[in-house]
Amino acid sequence: MCGLRAVSLISVIFFTCGSVAAVGGNNYWYPKEQPVATTKPSFPGNGYYIYGSQPANGGLPATTYTQSHTTYTRDTNFGGQSANGGLPANGGLPANGGLPANGGLPANRGQLPYGTPTHIGQTIYRSQPNYGGQQRYNARPRQLEYKCIEANLQYDCVFYNVHIDMQTQDAYFGFENLTLNNQKNVTFKNSTMRKLPAALLASFRQVEVLNLNGLQIEEIDTNAFAYAHTIQKLSMSNNNLERIEDDTFQATTALQNLQLSSNRLTHVDLSLIPSLFHVNVSYNLLSTLAIPIAVKELHASHIRINAVRGPFNMELTILKLQHNNLTDTAWLVNYPRLIEVDLSYNELKKITYHHFFTMQRLQRLYVSNNHLVALDLYGRPIPTLKVLDLSHNHLLHVERNQPQFDRLENLYLDHNFIVTLKLSAHHTLNNLTLSHNDWDCNSLRALFRNVAHPAVHDADQYCKIDYHLEHGLCCKESDNPYLDRLLQCIALTSVVEKL
Ligand SMILES: *[C@@H]1O[C@H](CO)[C@@H](O)[C@H](O)[C@H]1NC(C)=O
Ligand SMILES: *[C@@H]1O[C@H](CO)[C@@H](O)[C@H](O)[C@H]1NC(C)=O
Ligand SMILES: *[C@@H]1O[C@H](CO)[C@@H](O)[C@H](O)[C@H]1NC(C)=O
Ligand SMILES: *[C@@H]1O[C@H](CO)[C@@H](O)[C@H](O)[C@H]1NC(C)=O
Ligand SMILES: *[C@@H]1O[C@H](CO)[C@@H](O)[C@H](O)[C@H]1NC(C)=O
Ligand SMILES: *[C@@H]1O[C@H](CO)[C@@H](O)[C@H](O)[C@H]1NC(C)=O
Repeated sequence: MCGLRAVSLISVIFFTCGSVAAVGGNNYWYPKEQPVATTKPSFPGNGYYIYGSQPANGGLPATTYTQSHTTYTRDTNFGGQSANGGLPANGGLPANGGLPANGGLPANRGQLPYGTPTHIGQTIYRSQPNYGGQQRYNARPRQLEYKCIEANLQYDCVFYNVHIDMQTQDAYFGFENLTLNNQKNVTFKNSTMRKLPAALLASFRQVEVLNLNGLQIEEIDTNAFAYAHTIQKLSMSNNNLERIEDDTFQATTALQNLQLSSNRLTHVDLSLIPSLFHVNVSYNLLSTLAIPIAVKELHASHIRINAVRGPFNMELTILKLQHNNLTDTAWLVNYPRLIEVDLSYNELKKITYHHFFTMQRLQRLYVSNNHLVALDLYGRPIPTLKVLDLSHNHLLHVERNQPQFDRLENLYLDHNFIVTLKLSAHHTLNNLTLSHNDWDCNSLRALFRNVAHPAVHDADQYCKIDYHLEHGLCCKESDNPYLDRLLQCIALTSVVEKL
């Protein structure tokens, strides 16, 4: 009874003392190291390949390539063409492309709401599709027409040199005959798109993979995804998005993979997109993370999240939340099928089994670089846990967690204020870090009777006054280690107060 109370009391005093000592410039307790500022990674090239010039056949895939994709039956129109697209040298068209000055279109083409029956049912189309000719603005200089002019192994539609700003009104993508815009994987090269226009997916209604990375997108047109029923993977990383409105993805019922990292998002409610399976929203400015119902892998690091919400989720396996502003872990009970949780570099003060008792298969728990003063996994150890990283915290008394520690494989305890540690002879640890703590020598000697040295992966080098190296770790001799630390702390505090 008394012992327990004394220990908690000491923990509290010690936590305070640790800071005091650091403020006083005393090297006795190691001041907590500041997390290294992590700069936004840059994405040179975004995985794009060289910007090749347009091949003779307008960049259309070779016959063998398209035919290997059985689903693309329409591609025979393209793939079977000879080098010049099956047309005479001039494309079979008079110099003006065989079109009247207005391109053979009704004057209001492009103003119609996309997808209205009149649009699809139109009979007045150009006489010849404009194979590979990307920029034919001569007829109607105000209309920007963009066509994919190349395919590669990943994408059957590559747009080059698309430039759309906030003022652009009438950009048009692909062919007027929508059935020709049957490409499934679409990407952009050497392009900027300050505003994602509705026109893109209004024309390309069968897209499954859309890569919009690094296009400087600031805004998404209200109806940009209105026809994106087939889209499965959408990448919009490395843009300048500030908000994703709640209805933006209303129609994207097949969207499984959403990449939004490295934007400036202050609002996106992922729980409104229940189809999501893989998500990356890292490097944004969100304060709340709403986890969708069936997401399996969620990366949300470097965002400053301080709240997590969302429905019970039986699928979530990997959750990366490092470098945020979390102070609480109670929400974890909603995710019983987690295998890996990364909560390092947050503001957590305690880890308690109450928030982990639902876990059925948690193997890796990372909580380094928080402000942990309390660790209670002894109430009910997490049976499947293999890796526990508690390094760089303010832990002092962890001994009672032995039932949990004994069954781990990797345990990282370095850079805390730990005084004593016990492990049983049948522990399963093969990787243990212990340096930069406040070890009691007797406890270390007892510990190393049960720990083979190769399992310890770190060591201290220089010890403070009153400490010496034993088993490669600095420790202090005393009969009553916790009382000793308490008295030392009080002495230090009064020194600081006198100053
Ligand atoms: C990329 O865009 C720039 C400016 O818009 C242009 O000068 C350059 O030719 C383009 N490069 C390629 C390979 O299309
Ligand atoms: C489209 O992308 C998917 C997944 O990235 C890939 O499996 C498929 O082969 C691609 N198809 C084409 C036509 O590029
Ligand atoms: C659109 O293209 C398809 C495929 O080439 C063709 O069968 C169809 O007749 C075209 N529709 C119109 C309205 O021209
Ligand atoms: C998530 O995005 C960040 C930033 O772009 C990147 O560093 C990380 O590798 C991404 N994670 C995954 C699994 O794609
Ligand atoms: C972290 O959260 C606290 C409140 O929980 C808030 O005062 C602080 O400003 C937040 N920090 C950042 C960087 O958002
Ligand atoms: C042991 O932990 C250290 C420190 O994290 C790591 O570098 C090393 O790869 C680990 N070794 C094994 C065998 O897991």
